[in-house]
Amino acid sequence: MMCPDDRDAAPEPGSGADAVPENPANGPSSRFFAAVGIVPGMRVLDIGCGNGDLSRFVAGLAGPGGEVVALDRSDDVLASARAAKADPRAAPIRYRTADLAGVLPDLGRFDAIVGRRVLMYLPDAAATIARLSDLARPGSIMAFQEHGRAGLPAGLGDLPLHGRLYDWMWTTVAAEGGDTGLALRLASLMRAAGHRVETARSEGILLEAGEPSFLPTLARVMLPRMQAHGVATAEDMDPDTLAQRLEAEHLAAGGTIVWDLAFLVSARIGAGR
Ligand SMILES: C[S@@+](CC[C@H](N)C(=O)[O-])C[C@H]1O[C@@H](n2cnc3c(N)ncnc32)[C@H](O)[C@@H]1O
Repeated sequence: MMCPDDRDAAPEPGSGADAVPENPANGPSSRFFAAVGIVPGMRVLDIGCGNGDLSRFVAGLAGPGGEVVALDRSDDVLASARAAKADPRAAPIRYRTADLAGVLPDLGRFDAIVGRRVLMYLPDAAATIARLSDLARPGSIMAFQEHGRAGLPAGLGDLPLHGRLYDWMWTTVAAEGGDTGLALRLASLMRAAGHRVETARSEGILLEAGEPSFLPTLARVMLPRMQAHGVATAEDMDPDTLAQRLEAEHLAAGGTIVWDLAFLVSARIGAGR
């Protein structure tokens, strides 16, 4: 299956698609994951690694003396992750195919387990967290960035088009089996698993009037899935004029739009494990 929210399906910045702005949903990751306690020499597991963007970031934190194991069930995304150039200043990354919904392969023990936008796509995130906990050394770190449906967008004026797009996107994710409320339950899930939550905060993904927006790209990439689930048609969206209409609506409202929230939760694995 493709990356289910397709935020990561857009071209990489610098890939030649110069008009496409960077995915703003990834903005909080470097601030959050850099602060959870990953230090040089650690063994880190990245679950649902996709194209390896987060794996490479944590590999930088773990340094050449550390190791990153990155799991995904999609061989296609793993192929693109493996194609990225290795950084000699970072930990080596071992990419492996695995289904997080099932029994995990024997991977040894880890000092940190991380993931971004993956728990929400699992049929039973609590069960996966429990299985992952068995791979964690006592006192190690678990840190996740998840996104969810959070009653947005919010801004200074009426935003009916932005609101429609938000609704289409999250309704599509839900129709595909994504748990759109998982992000809001994440801290309680970690506590219920017996872990000590150290960080539970959110960071707004903001859109500024007059700045290049990622939304038209995201909408275009998600349109076939919206159509497949009967959520929106090409006529409803009119992708050829969408960028212009979003921009006009934003300029009329002015100011900042809070488009999305990244929920950022880190915890220490119970010392008794
Ligand atoms: C939205 S993408 C996020 C990718 C990456 N974590 C990132 O933020 O750049 C979700 C990823 O989770 C993977 N995934 C979803 N369900 C999975 C499962 N049951 N087992 C393993 N990987 C899974 C998908 O293949 C996809 O690559």
